[in-house]
Amino acid sequence: MVEINSKDYRDYYIKDGKLIGVFEQCYQKIDDPWDVGDALDITYNITLGVIESFYKAGQKLLDLGCGKGVFTKRIKDRCQCYTVGSDISKTACRKASISYPDITFIPYDLLKFEQCPFKEEQFDIILLNKVLWGLIPRLSEIMRFVPYLIRQGGYLIISQHLFHPANQTYGKDVLSTVQDLEKMISIKKELLIEFMLGVNPYIILVSQK
Ligand SMILES: C[S@@+](CC[C@H](N)C(=O)[O-])C[C@H]1O[C@@H](n2cnc3c(N)ncnc32)[C@H](O)[C@@H]1O
Repeated sequence: MVEINSKDYRDYYIKDGKLIGVFEQCYQKIDDPWDVGDALDITYNITLGVIESFYKAGQKLLDLGCGKGVFTKRIKDRCQCYTVGSDISKTACRKASISYPDITFIPYDLLKFEQCPFKEEQFDIILLNKVLWGLIPRLSEIMRFVPYLIRQGGYLIISQHLFHPANQTYGKDVLSTVQDLEKMISIKKELLIEFMLGVNPYIILVSQK
């Protein structure tokens, strides 16, 4: 694998309209690649409120593509739920486990769902928070697969920025509107929140199995 030396997450992520997806190196070289900070910005706050509204005491939540687990920890503290985080990067999961020993973090590449470490119907809520752009090559397959991990009646929560058409240079053929995403998800739509962040749309989509 090519060694990348950069402090800009984009050099590990998407280049010339194609996914590079070298997330492990990215987390080795940059402490906070996506400027998550304490996961306190408005997108996290609204998503947390949505999760809290759908969550019931005693349920199990899986945060897929959790990075260093900062938001996973906020969810765990707010809902007091049994929470598991998972990310393609072993470094991100290791750092998350050190920071938040009360949460289980499991490295897993979601594009390889045939190697999935989770069981069918194991979770009540699955969260995909700001992860979709890294999954573009197999997004529709993943949207069909992830619901298998959710128990009947449980929820898939997707929280994601989209792009104004003039700003989107990657993944346009797969995902450019919330309708594109809805077509990929066969379980029932429960809630859709759409708002603008500057000129770009942000969506929170909740679907029930
Ligand atoms: C923009 S970050 C979001 C992190 C976290 N969910 C949050 O909202 O703070 C995207 C995350 O998706 C992870 N990711 C990308 N592709 C993945 C894959 N194929 N399987 C699992 N995680 C993946 C990256 O490693 C990264 O941590």
